[in-house]
Amino acid sequence: MRIAIIGTGYVGLTTGACLAAIGHEVTCLDNNAAKIETLRQGKVPIFEPFIEEILEEAKDRMRFTQSYAEAIPGSDVVFIAVGTPSMADGSPDLRYLREAAAAIGEHLGGGFTVVVNKSTVPIGSGNWVESLIRESRGGRNGKVEFAVASNPEFLREGSALQDSLYPDRIVVGTDSPRAVDVLSNLYRPILEQSFTAPSYLKRPEGMAAAPLVTTDLASAELIKYAANSFLALKISYINEIGRLAEKVGADVTLVAKGMGLDARIGTRFLQAGLGWGGSCFAKDTAALVATAADYGLGMPIVSAARTVNQQQRERVVEKLLGELKIIKGKTVGLLGLAFKPNTDDLRDAPSLDIARALVARGVSVAAFDPVAMERAKSEWAGVSVKYCETAEQVAEGADAVVLVTEWAEFQDLDWEAMAKSARSPFVLDGRLFLDAARLAKAGWRCARI
Ligand code: UGA
Repeated sequence: MRIAIIGTGYVGLTTGACLAAIGHEVTCLDNNAAKIETLRQGKVPIFEPFIEEILEEAKDRMRFTQSYAEAIPGSDVVFIAVGTPSMADGSPDLRYLREAAAAIGEHLGGGFTVVVNKSTVPIGSGNWVESLIRESRGGRNGKVEFAVASNPEFLREGSALQDSLYPDRIVVGTDSPRAVDVLSNLYRPILEQSFTAPSYLKRPEGMAAAPLVTTDLASAELIKYAANSFLALKISYINEIGRLAEKVGADVTLVAKGMGLDARIGTRFLQAGLGWGGSCFAKDTAALVATAADYGLGMPIVSAARTVNQQQRERVVEKLLGELKIIKGKTVGLLGLAFKPNTDDLRDAPSLDIARALVARGVSVAAFDPVAMERAKSEWAGVSVKYCETAEQVAEGADAVVLVTEWAEFQDLDWEAMAKSARSPFVLDGRLFLDAARLAKAGWRCARI
């Protein structure tokens, strides 16, 4: 089938690469000329494991353009995967969605097209996109046949390709049975798991098929917010339990294991620590609260999850004060900047709040991340952080080291040498990730968030 994808961020590019890999003809469009040029040269503007490999494999079926006239006419499916950043009041900024819908409307033609909202968009956006498309066609001649659908994505950065090719489910919300047929055909190789798995992205053992959940537009839109908010509150819940565990002398990781093995609860997303960051959970929980407020509804559970998450970040300063007593004039090293491992994404990363809070208290902050350093240097221009060349350097002369992102390689650092180079070998494990016994042997005093 012929597919157009508007927006080449994490969602758009991953979706495009996966659809091309399973045999579709994909045109990716972005209004950022530099991004399109980079992609045309076979380079990738984001960090995502195996994205280079899959783009290389699918390159004969992928094109990159800035032109709607090139991408839209004749497409069977047009995915809108543009950014919807939060505005000051928590509601999403829909200007890119509006622009995309209007431009799609101007260029639709050449047969039935399904226009799909893939970005996380407010409830009601499906109907809004449909009206924008009709409006933008205005008095133009010729009847075009199109339908709008919501097809939220559930991919995680860092395992975006795995999540797209081997999803737990695919959700399609639309009022058009014809659109359901088109999207079922589009996703058939994934639904039936009939495509040949790439050697670097093996099919999970026992995976035979993925369920398709078909709904109306509003339900599909709400599924996305409800799912992300539930994952977010699961994390905040275990973090709240973690605070009590510390007081009563329990180990929250054991509590999480013992709870999570109940199949009704599940072990995933019960990893206690600094809490969630990234582009999705903060934005989506805020949007859910804002949407509910429009209808005069409070969302006390989701709101509490947001509060707990923010407090986890503030606990870093509290813990350092508890250990070092005076932190003004001291040096703190941060291990990890990205909001989670295997990505260079710094959006809503706990590291930024932590660095800012420390700098505001007169602390010198040194930091290292395996992939997010260049991004941090350009995106955090106003924050005074010393960027180190190696993880080990973070400990040099430090009064404390904080593990902020659980990159696997941080477990295998030369912690013995680092303890010797630190002014005071104290490590605060923000992700309950380090082997405390090993670190103690290497000379570190260890604490957990
Ligand atoms: C999240 C969802 O997991 C995806 O299903 C969804 O598609 C995506 O948002 C989105 O809406 O686009 P993502 O933000 O990429 O994906 O990353 P996650 O793996 O969910 O991690 C989010 C944050 O939660 C990270 O900061 C991570 O460190 C933290 N986390 C995760 C925990 O603190 N504990 C956990 O047990 C799991």
